[in-house]
Amino acid sequence: MPAPSDNAEAPLPSNLVLIGFMGSGKSSIGRMLAAKLGFHLLDTDALVVEDAGMQITEIFQWKGEEGFRDYEARALAYLVERNAKGVVVATGGGIVTRESNLPLLHQLGFVVGLTASEEVIFERVSRNKARPLLHTPNPRETVSELLARRAPFYEAAADYAIDTSMKSHAQVADEIIAEARRRYPNPL
Ligand code: S3P
Repeated sequence: MPAPSDNAEAPLPSNLVLIGFMGSGKSSIGRMLAAKLGFHLLDTDALVVEDAGMQITEIFQWKGEEGFRDYEARALAYLVERNAKGVVVATGGGIVTRESNLPLLHQLGFVVGLTASEEVIFERVSRNKARPLLHTPNPRETVSELLARRAPFYEAAADYAIDTSMKSHAQVADEIIAEARRRYPNPL
């Protein structure tokens, strides 16, 4: 009998949950995973924007980071309550900083931590100015500090971690799918 890892038909967990720092590739790899699996892609940031009726930058401006975290926690709880199946959930980079979110992430599905080197992260986040936490006099230093502060949170929360720095989106997606199939010989 083939080992579960050799069985390409083994069932996947119901959902995949992507965590990781800004610029680690959650949205792009989430899209690729959803396309490969025929899953829907949901994004906690998009749910927050819909719920708040404001853009992320405005939420930070008017309600502060804690206010944003409240919306984010509510979006996560909504996905768990909805008992979503067959979805890839791309989360906001700071979701792991609120401890009460961790059990919910695991309830939702297989939690995959995306990582990337500091240089790659900085290069990626520099292309998009819509991240309020990086609106500082020295964004490079902010990335460095935040990465160091958050690394233990990502490590603790991820069931599996993969470095996206030197890989194509398709390569990362294939590795995640293979790992999920190895770990979940039976449906959840
Ligand atoms: C944040 C990351 C952002 C967004 C918000 C806060 C963070 O999401 O949730 O700006 O605290 O790291 P991305 O990781 O998708 O950029």
